[in-house]
Amino acid sequence: MERISTGISELDVKLEGGYPIGKVILVTGASGTGKTIFGLHFLRRSCIDGRKCVHIATEESPEDLLVQAEMLGLDLRPYLDSGQLTVKRVFETRTYNVEQAAEFGFGSKMIDVDILKQVKLVPDDTDVVVIDNMGVFALDLSVKEFRDRIDTINRMLAGKGCTTLFIMDEAAYKLTHEVSEYSAYGSIKLMVKENPYTGVRERYLDIPKMRSTKISLDLAVFDITSEGIKFRKSGSKA
Ligand SMILES: Nc1ncnc2c1ncn2[C@@H]1O[C@H](COP(=O)(O)OP(=O)(O)OP(=O)(O)O)[C@@H](O)[C@H]1O
Ligand SMILES: [Mg+2]
Repeated sequence: MERISTGISELDVKLEGGYPIGKVILVTGASGTGKTIFGLHFLRRSCIDGRKCVHIATEESPEDLLVQAEMLGLDLRPYLDSGQLTVKRVFETRTYNVEQAAEFGFGSKMIDVDILKQVKLVPDDTDVVVIDNMGVFALDLSVKEFRDRIDTINRMLAGKGCTTLFIMDEAAYKLTHEVSEYSAYGSIKLMVKENPYTGVRERYLDIPKMRSTKISLDLAVFDITSEGIKFRKSGSKA
């Protein structure tokens, strides 16, 4: 199976070379666990490798995202300027709709940003798509509606040959009974928890599923540094 680098070399090793190409990988975790930074690594690597990328940002403006990337040594600006990377302004559309709805008394359906339309607009020659955060599209839907929508997006992006990261917050993931897990080809969970031996809170990465890939079920420990995500060598301390 062909692979594409995740942008984190230690993770590439764990995944026999990277994400399976043309598939959807789900990334979940509570707030602040590093999901957005995880996506930035993938985008930066893909841009360096000359791939065409689309980022659908539902929770922050492209400007904020670029600043965050730059601070972590993952500068994306040159690729945005050259058109190799497109950042969709979903966040502004979504919040503008909420503002309009409040002013003119529209119902909640008016607030919805149509994710299917956004995905349809992804150009056919796109190699990599990151959707951060899928959770905002889940809140107003039944679990069945959400599952149907996820499956449809999956099929649309697979048809375009895109390797996709679905980033989803823990609350929406739980609210939708974790159905997105079944729909995705692979699943990565990020978490912060206490090390039972030292009492120190640490960042962990778990890969519960990656089809067509031999994976270790051991949790990996990582740090977020000024150079982004760095895995610890097993047994080493911060
Ligand atoms: N330069 C840095 N050095 C060290 N840690 C950093 C740095 N920049 C960010 N962080 C850490 O990364 C965390 C945020 O990561 P990120 O934005 O990827 O989380 P997230 O899972 O996307 O959160 P949310 O669900 O709220 O969007 C911050 O809480 C901060 O602790
Ligand atoms: Mg985030």
